[in-house]
Amino acid sequence: MGFGEVPNNIIVGNLRSAAYLDVMVDRLVEIMSHSRHCAILTGAGMSAESGVPTFRGADGLWQKFKAEELANMDAFMANPKLVWEWYNWRRDLMSKVEPNPGHLALAEMENLFERFTLITQNIDGLHHEAGSREILELHGNIHRNKCSKCNRILSGDIEIDPDRIPACETCGGRIRPDVVWFGEMLDNDILSGAFRASEEADIFFSIGTSAVVHPAASLPMMAKQSGATLVEINPDRTPLTDLADFYFEARSGEFLPELISAYKERLESREA
Ligand code: OAD
Repeated sequence: MGFGEVPNNIIVGNLRSAAYLDVMVDRLVEIMSHSRHCAILTGAGMSAESGVPTFRGADGLWQKFKAEELANMDAFMANPKLVWEWYNWRRDLMSKVEPNPGHLALAEMENLFERFTLITQNIDGLHHEAGSREILELHGNIHRNKCSKCNRILSGDIEIDPDRIPACETCGGRIRPDVVWFGEMLDNDILSGAFRASEEADIFFSIGTSAVVHPAASLPMMAKQSGATLVEINPDRTPLTDLADFYFEARSGEFLPELISAYKERLESREA
């Protein structure tokens, strides 16, 4: 098969096969230029090049730490000190990292579509820092605190001493990080916004997520079923890969800036 005869369904892109990749990027850019609403789902891989560890895979957090001891309400009630020590360690790590070129490219992408929805599973706040404006944080934000009893959100970045965990001024409940733990419901408004955007998108990108944790993992499938072009960017295959119209076997920090410049070049050549 020559490069001009790329199949219409599953297109696997590999940064090592440059000519084939160019054809795919051209085709994707063409579809992007006819899309009004772009929705994006990001996961831990998006921040990997900033130095934030992912959860799964050989070096993932869940290889070294037990989610059941650290990321659920029972664990917090049983050993709040341990849970806070873990979150303080992650807070400290996340406060030292910076957005990578992939985050910056997505911030730029927000200006290229009539409607743009960025949905993230990440709690690191790096999309905000990169300049993205419309963000649906499905799993919360590690830099915020809330009450474990009445759910009141505390304003400002407050440091928590694991030996002296403050109590909520309203109800006396223990203060916890404002992140979603296993077994907890996602914020209803945020989740409905994510579902709506996935159903209404013309093009949907799934970036840096293993696509195994629901309900986030169902969003790309919902978008595809509603007629969107589904694009996946991930160095490893996932359960989504075979469903995707475009799969780029690539790191998001490398690939997204290339894609945005190809897109802008196309717009400029059209306007010229
Ligand atoms: P995972 O750790 O499950 O998956 C990270 C994905 O990123 C993997 O598929 C990697 O192949 C991919 N990846 C690694 N480096 C990358 C790079 N440079 N560019 C692009 N992709 C890269 O993380 P999530 O899918 O985000 O939930 O995990 C989902 C949820 O599971 C998390 O939000 C968290 C976790 O338990 C909660 O804490 C509620």
